Amino acid sequence: MFEHVDAYAGDPILSLNEAFQKDPRAGKINLSIGIYFDNDGRIPMLPSVRAAELAVVEAAGPRPYLPMEGAANFRSAVQALLFGADHPAVQAGRIATIQGVGSSGGLKVGADLLKRYFPDSKVYLSDPTWDNHRAVFEGSGHTCETYPYYDPATGGVRFDALLQSFKALPARSVVLMHACCHNPTGVDLTQDQWRALVPVIRERQLLPFLDLAYQGYGDGIEEDAFAPRLLADEGLSFLIANSFSKSMSLYGERCGGLSIVCPDADQAARVLGQMKFMIRRNYSNPPMHGGQIVAKVLTDPKLRALWEAEVAEMRERIQSMRHQLHDVLVAKLPGRNFDYFLTQRGMFSYTGLSPEQAERLKTEFGVYILRSGRMCVAGLNTRNVEATAEAMAAVLAG
Ligand code: LMR
Repeated sequence: MFEHVDAYAGDPILSLNEAFQKDPRAGKINLSIGIYFDNDGRIPMLPSVRAAELAVVEAAGPRPYLPMEGAANFRSAVQALLFGADHPAVQAGRIATIQGVGSSGGLKVGADLLKRYFPDSKVYLSDPTWDNHRAVFEGSGHTCETYPYYDPATGGVRFDALLQSFKALPARSVVLMHACCHNPTGVDLTQDQWRALVPVIRERQLLPFLDLAYQGYGDGIEEDAFAPRLLADEGLSFLIANSFSKSMSLYGERCGGLSIVCPDADQAARVLGQMKFMIRRNYSNPPMHGGQIVAKVLTDPKLRALWEAEVAEMRERIQSMRHQLHDVLVAKLPGRNFDYFLTQRGMFSYTGLSPEQAERLKTEFGVYILRSGRMCVAGLNTRNVEATAEAMAAVLAG
């Protein structure tokens, strides 16, 4: 019956992470998947999240289905986190927010909705982008193309090329953009560059779809929400998928949202209705437990303050790893420029290593980075950073 089913080639990120788990070598180092590990190499259970979970379990009652759009307290907490509770767009009720299944689930609901209401629009992805973006949008029937983004020559953004490309896009094109901590490059647009994009987005009638999966890992929880707040301030219509996997270390609970900012409350109500329909015919409604933990952390003032400090600690630990890796590499390979480790932000660095060099790192040294050269800096710690730098230096020296 299923003889015609092809073998799955595997996912470039998840399959590499699986290969790492199976690797018997004691000194192996996992810098593949985008997960924050603490200095002991463990996925942290944040005290704020633990306290919230205990409170949620303590208060637990019957488990009815959640509404298709998710829990009301989760949805309003997401709006307040992304835009600020007092933002005029929130107050005007012109943002339609659903509780999704991680940020990927939000991308999928948004992709389905866009295919239904913007069937002729193409989706433009940054070059490069997270591998799964293309898969999600193509899976919803979209045609995906790319816009210029990363410049390997400078390690920065090809902003002029990006701007020119946006100016040439057909009206109602969807532009998928990383709100902060660009995955895979770690290279973000500056606030001035976001501001420069606003008139182009408006004049060309582009439809931005922001992905905010690393809020708090760039400059701070508020600072990393600059882009959605700017676009909302400017009265633009756009979508934003967000995640709590990394910021609350809640990977397996699949907590995230999708918000669609509309011109008025009437459009937002209709958009929310169609988001519910997309959810109903996909997974019906989201699970309850993780979302209630997130809502508790975000709305309980003490837990909120604790969480903000925990996010700052994770962000600062990554920064210190960036510096340590940089310093060892500079000492080992003087004359080479490793400044990109210091300027890139968030969990990832784009090392510029070729697929062959990434393969050598894995097979000879047990250091796992993606074939694209993406390294998850959040997998480094004081015990493995030196070994990582030595392995990289050996591979780079040829
Ligand atoms: C990553 O980019 O490694 C993470 O977002 C995990 C994933 O699902 O790919």
